[in-house]
Amino acid sequence: MFKILAKMLFALIVACGVAGISGAIAKVAVPIKIPKERAYIIEVETEDTPPVAQSFNGEVENISKNEIEKEVKDKIAEATATVEVVAEEKAVSFKELLATADVKKGKKISKSCAACHSFDKGGKNKMGPNLWNIVNRDIATVEGFKYSKAMQNAGGKWSYDKLNKFLTKPREDIKGTKMSFAGVKKLEDRAALIAWLRSLSDSPAQLPVE
Ligand code: HEC
Repeated sequence: MFKILAKMLFALIVACGVAGISGAIAKVAVPIKIPKERAYIIEVETEDTPPVAQSFNGEVENISKNEIEKEVKDKIAEATATVEVVAEEKAVSFKELLATADVKKGKKISKSCAACHSFDKGGKNKMGPNLWNIVNRDIATVEGFKYSKAMQNAGGKWSYDKLNKFLTKPREDIKGTKMSFAGVKKLEDRAALIAWLRSLSDSPAQLPVE
């Protein structure tokens, strides 16, 4: 009787062991198995093969190249439009501020430049060049002033926008400039200052048109 029981117990242990091992194998095997319905081949190899996602079942999903392209284009257009609107708002507000700027306030702000710049007609160059008639003047063209290479290579004229950008952070705008001045932080202050600079001329430049 005891022998039979022992045999049965042995058989049970063996059976459990086998089940255990096959269970383990099954556990390892399962994640490797890919359900056929979920597997796709996506062909995007050449220009002329339209990328079609085809399931192993033979079903063809019509994700056409055009659709993908259209979606990407739409997203890019959307993002670009947002950027343009933001840029435009900024430009408009600077122009508006310039048109309505407090010129007297601009003159006050110019005190922070006066250590290095003279502003009167025919004024001497100091640490920096004379700034009479600076709006729309060619960059780096005051006679007798030794400009940095960076300023000489900048090219173009001191338009309102260029002045606005330069005076925000001179050393970031023209890398290598020898104008060591941190910048005028507030857009409103720069507009006032530039409006005042504009007045320093026999025939002040036109204000930017809307
Ligand atoms: C610490 C002295 C210093 C201060 C302060 C300073 N600048 Fe200058 N600025 C210079 C120097 C030096 C140059 C020449 C830069 C170069 O050659 O790289 C210059 C160049 C310029 C130019 C280019 C002129 C040209 O002929 O192309 C403008 C515009 C200008 N400064 C405006 C200003 C304004 C406006 C302020 C005040 C908000 C100011 N700067 C404050 C030293 C100064």
